Amino acid sequence: MRLSICAAAIATTTLFLSSMATPAYKPSSKSPSQIADEMRRKQKQKKLDTIDNKYFHEPGGDSTLGHYDRRYFHGVVSDEERTDTQSHMIRAYLNFFHENELDTWIAHGTLLGWWWNGKRLPWDLDLDTQVADATLHHLGDVHNQTRYAYNSSDGATQREFLLDVNPWIWQRNRGDGLNVIDARWIDTRNGLFIDITGLSEIRPDTHPGVWSCKNYHMYQTGELYPMRETMFEGVVAKVPYNYDKILVDEYKVGALVVTEFNGHMWNTTLKEWVKTQETLDQETKERMRKEVEERKQREEVERQRKAGEERKKKEKEDRKKMDMEDKKKALGEAKLE
Ligand SMILES: *[C@@H]1O[C@H](CO)[C@@H](O)[C@H](O)[C@H]1NC(C)=O
Ligand SMILES: *[C@@H]1O[C@H](CO)[C@@H](O)[C@H](O)[C@H]1NC(C)=O
Ligand SMILES: *[C@@H]1O[C@H](CO)[C@@H](O)[C@H](O)[C@H]1NC(C)=O
Repeated sequence: MRLSICAAAIATTTLFLSSMATPAYKPSSKSPSQIADEMRRKQKQKKLDTIDNKYFHEPGGDSTLGHYDRRYFHGVVSDEERTDTQSHMIRAYLNFFHENELDTWIAHGTLLGWWWNGKRLPWDLDLDTQVADATLHHLGDVHNQTRYAYNSSDGATQREFLLDVNPWIWQRNRGDGLNVIDARWIDTRNGLFIDITGLSEIRPDTHPGVWSCKNYHMYQTGELYPMRETMFEGVVAKVPYNYDKILVDEYKVGALVVTEFNGHMWNTTLKEWVKTQETLDQETKERMRKEVEERKQREEVERQRKAGEERKKKEKEDRKKMDMEDKKKALGEAKLE
């Protein structure tokens, strides 16, 4: 059933492409609007080449700071806040794509999280999705800078998310490597985001049916399509047809087998990744260390405040004493006269 849908989808695509490639007159020439479009893109790209090459900026390059958008960053958030942000963020994203009939699917670590229990991996610092390049270009043309108002299904959480599309989406190879992320879905309260990357057939002449992102993750058409409809974080989502192969290619078979990872253990009863006792102990220790440090700081501030008060009091007393002595002296001089 699925395979026949796939075959039909591919047949349609082929038909569409071949009809595009053979215009009614002057074979192999481009339409004026296509040429104008291309020139506009080239000009846009040239202008970009001369300015700042990187579009998305992060407050730092390490694995933590590299996952915040610099414009909206106000400090690293707690695990609880990240979990809350990411689970609403992906629901909003999937709803937006669904409402606008745009195709997208979950990828990388997010796909791995789905594989285990249909949820994000609790330690994941960002979320990843993919789109086909046609969808990406449509996002750039029509939906760039959308601010999506989100209301959770229970009505308890309202948020706003920004869709920001990188102007470098027209360049489909890696280039200087500074713009491999094509778009972001950003929580503007704290700067956390979903990385959106587009896939293109970058070598349709020599490698047809091979899809690649700008970071050269490669997929065959048949690995991706037809997409499977599923649930992720409680909302309708899509995953690539051959998700097992894609995950093993990227993370090796261990990622689907090993049940202790990144300070978490897979609990078969709960079907959840839970923090190991070791992680919990470490967190308790870290929290206590911070508390002690904060108390010391507070005590130091208090000590300095008291010292300042003492100094002022003493200065006041000294001044009083001097005043008295001056008066006495003046009195003595008056007596002498
Ligand atoms: C959010 O949804 C709830 C019901 O699901 C509704 O009562 C509430 O008015 C909505 N809030 C906004 C801001 O749309
Ligand atoms: C999206 O909007 C931003 C802000 O206006 C702009 O800098 C960027 O070039 C736009 N992206 C595309 C693909 O046009
Ligand atoms: C899994 O979670 C359940 C419920 O919290 C708990 O009773 C059980 O001991 C856990 N299993 C493991 C292996 O930690």
